[in-house]
Amino acid sequence: MSLVEIKDLKVHYPIRSGFWNRVTDSVKAVDGITFNIEAGETYGLVGESGSGKSTTGKSVVGLEKVTSGSILYNGKDITKADNRRKLDYNRDVQMIFQDSLSSLNPRKRIEDIIAEPLRNFEHLSKDDEKLRVLQLLNIVGLDADALYKYPHQFSGGQRQRIGVARAVATNPKLIIADEPVSALDLSVQAQVLNFMKKIQREFGISYLFISHDLGVVRHMCNNIAIMNRGRLVEIGTREDIYNHPLHIYTKRLLAAIPETNVNQRAAHRASRLAVEKIYEDQQSKYYDEDGMAYPLVQVSPTHSVALPETIAKQLASQEGEVQA
Ligand SMILES: Nc1ncnc2c1ncn2[C@@H]1O[C@H](COP(=O)(O)OP(=O)(O)O)[C@@H](O)[C@H]1O
Ligand SMILES: [Mg+2]
Repeated sequence: MSLVEIKDLKVHYPIRSGFWNRVTDSVKAVDGITFNIEAGETYGLVGESGSGKSTTGKSVVGLEKVTSGSILYNGKDITKADNRRKLDYNRDVQMIFQDSLSSLNPRKRIEDIIAEPLRNFEHLSKDDEKLRVLQLLNIVGLDADALYKYPHQFSGGQRQRIGVARAVATNPKLIIADEPVSALDLSVQAQVLNFMKKIQREFGISYLFISHDLGVVRHMCNNIAIMNRGRLVEIGTREDIYNHPLHIYTKRLLAAIPETNVNQRAAHRASRLAVEKIYEDQQSKYYDEDGMAYPLVQVSPTHSVALPETIAKQLASQEGEVQA
């Protein structure tokens, strides 16, 4: 049994219009996605802005009402509030957000921000609480004098560390990290990613790591799902996704990874334009008549792509990885 099993999850937001304000349509933010997260792993969920990643993440922490499907946590369906209560779910599963300045209360001192989940879930004495907060600051590499400061007194990278300290305060099993480094400079991104990995090793945490950037996810995730307009277009191991991408949307995300080597920039730009052209010209090959992704078909034990079966097998054999 996996730690988390997401099965055919749908989250549709109603659109109301007209004089009677009736529901006339819906935004299919998440439209039938299925994947599993194993204990201790970092699972990557990647797609452009608007593809439904945050809605998925919020559904997994129980902040979003799901339309249909299930999310099993240790085998129990946590889309039901009753199960979340019984399982201590709100303590076991935490979230880290992209924008730490707006997710940390600006009027609270760091001590109170980090202690908040402790006060909700563990009833420690004042002294024990302070000790625990100091430990947490130490874990994320911040000094004790941070205790009495406010969020605006820190840099973006430091605030992200504070967000992580708060998220790990209650020893969670799973952290949903929604674009945790997207607002940070490249140099600071690496630092934050490194201590997220360190914390994972120390505490045995699983991450659902959400990003629009396949470059960021590369060194974090062993398994990755690519999300496109509410659906998954490709699932695979790191090796599958980076070395044998099959869906044009995945190739497009790969081509969008910024090239840091100046000498490679021209070649990189040319290949990005080539992929973009295929994406424009071959919509009908990669998407159905309504412009939606096809259901996933498996091309290897680890690798699935959203294409009609014959095309999927054909592309996979060109990549030299077909088994069937
Ligand atoms: N509360 C909401 N009501 C209506 N539409 C929403 C709501 N939240 C998100 N959406 C829409 O759902 C889609 C997916 O959004 P989101 O999950 O935030 O994507 P991502 O995190 O990948 O950028 C977008 O089209 C967005 O506009
Ligand atoms: Mg988002």
